[in-house]
Amino acid sequence: MELHPDCERILFTPEQIAAAVDGIAQRLNADYAGKTVYMVCILKGASTFYSDLVRRLTFDVRFDFMCVSSYGSATASSGAVCIRKDLDSSIKDMDVIIVEDIVDSGLTMRYLTENLLSRDPKSINICALMDKPSRREVPVEVKYSGMEIPNAFVVGYGLDYAERYRNLPYIAVLRREIYAPAACTK
Ligand code: PRP
Repeated sequence: MELHPDCERILFTPEQIAAAVDGIAQRLNADYAGKTVYMVCILKGASTFYSDLVRRLTFDVRFDFMCVSSYGSATASSGAVCIRKDLDSSIKDMDVIIVEDIVDSGLTMRYLTENLLSRDPKSINICALMDKPSRREVPVEVKYSGMEIPNAFVVGYGLDYAERYRNLPYIAVLRREIYAPAACTK
């Protein structure tokens, strides 16, 4: 497979990603058998993972989408995020799974779980394809996680840098000179 020239190396091939998605789906199918589950995709990064995951699920799935973005570095430590698109329906008394591509500082997930818990779901759990525990700033329980990754800037399979690279079929480490050119002048 040809590596994008802006990438340093492939971290996960499409086959490795598919195996991780299979593993998560098996666990979800065991834990949620017979239930109706409200699967919440967090746009945009989780869209590719979400569409692959839901097609492997054997329980009754309801689709919904949220789009969030952080308010910026000034308020990053507060974890405040802006909801650009909210859920379409109530989640009261529903089993809810938040589907994320990656949990990094944990700030987005902390905000979202608190926000969604205030809507009185029956249960709520986080499912993330990738977890970067070394970057965690606030504790977050990622119950269903596919792969732990090192502290590297990763793109592909939905993940972007400046809205690029989301369509790469693999997950790759972005070259440092692409996202931090000033630091690479020597
Ligand atoms: C990414 C990712 C998570 C969040 C994780 O989203 O999809 O939502 O960052 O970071 P955190 O754990 O430090 O909060 P991003 O804001 O890049 O938007 P995107 O999904 O549209 O790419």
